[in-house]
Amino acid sequence: MKTILITGCSSGYGLETARLFHTKGWNVIATMRTPNAAVLAPTRRLQVLPLDVTLPESIDQALRLAGPIDVLVNNAGIGLFGAFEATPMATVREIFETNTFGTMAMTQAVLPQFRKRRSGLVINVTSTATMVSFPLVAAYTASKTAVEGFTESLALELAEFDIGIKLVEPGYGPTTRFGTNGVERMQGLIPEPYAPYARSVFAALGNPTAVTTEIAVAEAIWRAANDYAGTLRYPAGDDAVAIALTKGRQV
Ligand SMILES: NC(=O)c1ccc[n+]([C@@H]2O[C@H](COP(=O)([O-])OP(=O)(O)OC[C@H]3O[C@@H](n4cnc5c(N)ncnc54)[C@H](OP(=O)(O)O)[C@@H]3O)[C@@H](O)[C@H]2O)c1
Repeated sequence: MKTILITGCSSGYGLETARLFHTKGWNVIATMRTPNAAVLAPTRRLQVLPLDVTLPESIDQALRLAGPIDVLVNNAGIGLFGAFEATPMATVREIFETNTFGTMAMTQAVLPQFRKRRSGLVINVTSTATMVSFPLVAAYTASKTAVEGFTESLALELAEFDIGIKLVEPGYGPTTRFGTNGVERMQGLIPEPYAPYARSVFAALGNPTAVTTEIAVAEAIWRAANDYAGTLRYPAGDDAVAIALTKGRQV
């Protein structure tokens, strides 16, 4: 029976992914900054561990408690919507600490066990923002695009040790806690000169033609974890698939 460790399972795509893999019979290590049995209750095959991907000691402890794993899903992430001109560099760094360096640190931490066993898979959750440009998300897009480049290059050296690394690229998911979790960080990031433009962007976001659901992302991660064809990228969600098709990608 395979074991998967997922970061950021307190809500959204990570929570649904933990539920799906558990339902399908895997051992699941669902990690979250603050474990909460009301969100996800442990079972014989489901362990809930505390993990903050920005803290090295938290990563060490979680991996020690988890024991050997077969698949790591770097899902934990934070959003940022605002005019770049008004975004403090401290906030830009905060985004990178979680989305980019957290992903890199988790990957680095599991590689010794994967290399010794000559097996294992890392799945990095990025975004459709890496496929097409969306307005007012420059720093966020940079943090996720960095993960795409990181993954593409790392795939080459990991193949030497039969270790896989893949990308799951979700679209806009209005039903997760992504927006709510970012509200405080976004205060003051739309200064007056940008306000009319931001209003038009918000209006368009309110009427999306297609969106991404939690289950669509969980199913894309399931496909990525069980697909041995060497596919690197998996768009997740109706909007993400539509964008990937316009880019001429096979989905
Ligand atoms: N929703 C979208 O529109 C969308 C679109 C494209 C890509 N994505 C990506 O999909 C992933 C999941 O997002 P979501 O929509 O499911 O949002 P979500 O509901 O806000 O879930 C994000 C998760 O990441 C966790 N997290 C944040 N900082 C963390 C840290 N330092 N260490 C560990 N966990 C941390 C959060 O935990 P806490 O409860 O502790 O904050 C939460 O469990 C993210 O990587 C996001 O960038 C989302």
